[in-house]
Amino acid sequence: MAQLTVETKTNEAHALFLQQDADYYYSIGGRYSAKTYEIIQKNVLDALANPGLKIAAGRKVYSSIKDTLFSDFLKVLKDMGLDRRVYTKTVSPLHISFANDSEVIFKGADDPEKTKGLSGVHRLILDELNEYTLEDFESYEMSIRGQGYKTKIYMAHNPIPIIPGSRHWFQELFDPGTLKPGEPVIWTDTSLGRIAALKTTYKQNAFCPEKVKTRLEGYKETNPNLYKLWTLGEYAEMKGVILKGWDVVNEPQGELIGYGLDFGFSSDPAACVKVWGNKEEIWVQCICYSTDLVNSELYSLLTGRGVLPTDKVIADSAEPKSIEDLYRRGLRGIRGVKKRANYKAEMANILQGMKIHLIAGSTDLQREFSTWSWDEDKTGKLLPKPKDGNDHAMDALIMLLHDWRGSNQAAAPTVALRL
Ligand SMILES: Nc1ncnc2c1ncn2[C@@H]1O[C@H](COP(=O)(O)OP(=O)(O)OP(=O)(O)O)[C@@H](O)[C@H]1O
Ligand SMILES: [Mg+2]
Repeated sequence: MAQLTVETKTNEAHALFLQQDADYYYSIGGRYSAKTYEIIQKNVLDALANPGLKIAAGRKVYSSIKDTLFSDFLKVLKDMGLDRRVYTKTVSPLHISFANDSEVIFKGADDPEKTKGLSGVHRLILDELNEYTLEDFESYEMSIRGQGYKTKIYMAHNPIPIIPGSRHWFQELFDPGTLKPGEPVIWTDTSLGRIAALKTTYKQNAFCPEKVKTRLEGYKETNPNLYKLWTLGEYAEMKGVILKGWDVVNEPQGELIGYGLDFGFSSDPAACVKVWGNKEEIWVQCICYSTDLVNSELYSLLTGRGVLPTDKVIADSAEPKSIEDLYRRGLRGIRGVKKRANYKAEMANILQGMKIHLIAGSTDLQREFSTWSWDEDKTGKLLPKPKDGNDHAMDALIMLLHDWRGSNQAAAPTVALRL
C-alpha cells in the first residue's frame, strides 16, 4: 500500500496542548489564535493514522456549519495537500469520508435528534462552545461511545462578556482560572477525567496576517472591551453595553421589513441582515458576514441566501458604485442611505426601546450585539455615542431601520444615555 506523507505546520503552544493525553481539550482565547484550525488539523491527522476513526464536529446551529466549521475542514485538508484520492465530501448532509473508513459527521445542537448517530463516535469537536448550554453538552457527552479508540472531546471558544459575580458553565467545568497565554495545563478532575486547557491570543498563531494584528491592537485605543475579549483573550465585564434585553430564537415572526447591507472588503466584512417585524419588535438574521468578497460574489451570496430582485436592500450610500453594480446585476430594490452625523447614537436610543430577537446561527451577530457599547472619555465617563469598532451587522441593521422609520420621524434632538 502506498505510504501517504502529509506536510503540516503546527503552532507550538497548540502542538504541546494537543499532544497531551486527555479526555477533554479546552481551548479558549482571543480571535485568530488558531484554536479551530489546530483542533481540526490534529483530528484530520488522527483520522488518517487511525482507520475507522469517527469524528463528530458541531456548532450549536446546523445551518451555520457549512460556511464555518465545514469550510474550515476543507481549508485544512487543502493546506495539507490532500485530494480526492484521500477523502470525499458531501454537502447534503455535510460529511467527509476518508479512504481508510475514517469519517467526519457534522452536528447541530438545534436538531431535536442531535444525539442520533453518536454512539459510534470517538471524537467530538464543539466549536464556539459558548453557544451551547450545559444540557447540550451533557447530552452529547453521554452519547459518544465509539469502540476501539478512546473517546475525546475538543472544545474552543472566545471569552464572552460576563456579568459580575456570575460564571458560565464552561468556566466552572474547564477553566482553572489561572491560564496564561501559550502555556497548556493538564489536570485530573474527579468526575470528568483528564482535562487539558490552553489559552491563546493571536500571538500564538504564527499565521495571523499583519492586517488582523493591526486591527486587534487598534482596539486598545478604540474599544478597550473588545481589546480585552478578542486581543487578550480575557473575560471582560462590559461597561456601557447598549443593548441588553435581546434574545436568540430559531424562527422569525412578522412581516419582512427588508435587508440592511454594510459594505466591506479586506479588513471589514460585508455584512447583511434580514429584518422582520414592526416598530416595537424586530427579528434579525445575519445572512452574510464575509471579507474579501467582490461585488459579483456578494451578489451571488445574497441571492443564494434568498434576496429577491424586488426586495428592499438599504446599503451605505458611501459606496455608490457598488450599489449601482448590485442594481445592474439584478437587485432592483437596492438603494443607499445617507448616514447623518450622530445617526448611530439616535438609532441606539431607538433600538433600546424595541424588543429584539436574533435568529440563531450567527455568532458574529450575537458578538456584535453583546459588545456594542457607549464610548468613554479619558476619565472613563460614558459618552452618548456608540464606540466605533465591531459594528458591521449593527450598522447594516440601523441603516435599514433608519430608512424604514422614514425621514418624517423627528430625529431625537439630543441623545439620552440610557444604561
Ligand atoms: N497551523 C496552521 N497552519 C496554517 N495556517 C494556520 C494555522 N493555524 C492557524 N492558521 C491560520 O490562521 C487563521 C485563524 O485561525 P483560526 O480560525 O483557527 O482561529 P480561531 O482562534 O479559531 O479564531 P476565532 O476566535 O475567530 O474563532 C486560519 O484561518 C488559518 O488561515
Ligand atoms: Mg475559531
